[in-house]
Amino acid sequence: LRPIHRLLSSPGTVAADTRREEQSLGIAETGSEDRTPKKRFSEVQKERREQAQRTVLILCPNKISEKKFLKYLSQHGPINNHFFFESFGLYAVVEFCQKESVASLQSVTRLSVGTEAVIPFRSRFFNLKLKNPPSQTSEQSCIPCSNQSSPSSKKLFELLCNAESVDDQLNTLLKEFQLTEENTKLRYLTCSLIEDIAAAYFPYCEIRPFGSSVNGFGKLGCDLDMLLDLDEIGKSSAHKTSGNFLMEFQVKNVASERIATQKILSVIGECLDHFGPGCVGVQKILNARCPLVRFSHQASGFQCDLTANNRIALKSSELLYIYSALDSRVRALVFSIRCWARAHSLTSSIPGAWITNFSLTMMVIFFLQRRSPPVLPTLDYLRTLADAEDKCIIEGHNCTFICDLNRIKPSENTETLELLLKEFFEYFGNFAFNKNSINIRQGREQNKPESSPLHIQNPFETSLNISKNVSQSQLQKFVDLARESAWILHQEDKDHPSPSSNQPWGLAALLLPSVANSMSHAKKKKKKPANERVKNLLESIKSSSTENSTNTSGK
Ligand code: CTP
Ligand code: MG
Repeated sequence: LRPIHRLLSSPGTVAADTRREEQSLGIAETGSEDRTPKKRFSEVQKERREQAQRTVLILCPNKISEKKFLKYLSQHGPINNHFFFESFGLYAVVEFCQKESVASLQSVTRLSVGTEAVIPFRSRFFNLKLKNPPSQTSEQSCIPCSNQSSPSSKKLFELLCNAESVDDQLNTLLKEFQLTEENTKLRYLTCSLIEDIAAAYFPYCEIRPFGSSVNGFGKLGCDLDMLLDLDEIGKSSAHKTSGNFLMEFQVKNVASERIATQKILSVIGECLDHFGPGCVGVQKILNARCPLVRFSHQASGFQCDLTANNRIALKSSELLYIYSALDSRVRALVFSIRCWARAHSLTSSIPGAWITNFSLTMMVIFFLQRRSPPVLPTLDYLRTLADAEDKCIIEGHNCTFICDLNRIKPSENTETLELLLKEFFEYFGNFAFNKNSINIRQGREQNKPESSPLHIQNPFETSLNISKNVSQSQLQKFVDLARESAWILHQEDKDHPSPSSNQPWGLAALLLPSVANSMSHAKKKKKKPANERVKNLLESIKSSSTENSTNTSGK
């Protein structure tokens, strides 16, 4: 149930400052090796969080005058930044310069008086209803909307085919798919709105985004992973060892951390379901290895996964953030590999025996550590650079590594993206998956400690395999496609295809869904006897039939 607030249109006096904020926070631009100091992960998180707290989300009528809208809102204080976007309706994200402006706006809003009953929850999500909507002829013009989705396959192919080189193709793909400044703002705002709800139970809790929303590898449309952090509450009382009173409500004991997490998520899930403005389809998945609450945040359009007591995942997001920012080739390569995997149904939005984006990212990082000279340092090396303030032990796991990425020496490797892409496919097309494990901590293959087809060691919880879910047939499909892609790039090298020809070339050729099929009757030399290829094909069809029947979106 969404509490409906109302804004009364009345003339304002303070001119709105609609200046677009400089691209100052978050992830560095690609393409150029920019040597300006890069922010630490914790600094970015802190700044974005503070920014989100002075931001509101407003559902607007379709016909609206932007100028009047801003003029009205600026009665509550100067506006730092705003943008509009379309979801189920026209929405505005308005960032005030000061937090007090939000309270001022809230004080003039009211709950709707309709036939529906309302739960009077005070949110920062408003619904603007105009008394006198502007007429067709009035000054209102088309509101420019910020785009929140990735390009269509058709547009992507056009862009790729018009690129100048394979390197240019990889950088173009990255530019088109990476999270925009606005999308990033909307992610932090959504966390902040959910935090307001969770704060009803835990007043000093924090909801932090993690995973691909913040690690540099997020693609437009990716899910929003959130972490309910109650540590701040614990910290403020932990140092108080004297005094006669224990706060009984803070020390209600349960048998294990896991049970505590399940109970906390259970009540927050209920709370989101009953009182969360715009939170729909709330599912509590409490028996998973990492218990979570999954829901859709309707306004932003994000699919959200809320977890608790999951600080290691936040630390692994920080590690990936560092890897993504160390060298501009990393993100370009990861994005292209993720798109390639998606185009060939190697990954899926539903859980199953498929490789995940997280595993693919680890594979790319590992590959880049194996180059000579390496493009990326090992995690062990990043640990040797850490100083006292970087020290971090979580639940007995050593999660220490250097947090200031400006102190890490840039790589001496100068290989092109084109070469790296080709070598990636060759490397994993011939990797001894049957006996070796991928390990970014040491940056070299290790003997597999267990028999899962694909073994990628979790960088911090070293006894865990992050790709335990992957079946033999899915792994085989990955290997076959990697070999075929390496072969296509190799053929192109020999034939010197001209980028001006009408045929898809380079990365565009690799993303064509028909690669696997066309290969079977093309001039390609067969690597395996026909019966083995057919067997593999059948196996992969068997295991992906569920995916194909349900998953037609997002491709
Ligand atoms: N994670 C983990 N071990 C796993 C799966 C996930 O530690 N087996 C952590 C990683 O830090 C990961 C985060 O949980 O980044 C979120 O998981 P997920 O949403 O699956 O991956 P993302 O990296 O967010 O990628 P995507 O864009 O596909 O959401
Ligand atoms: Mg995610």
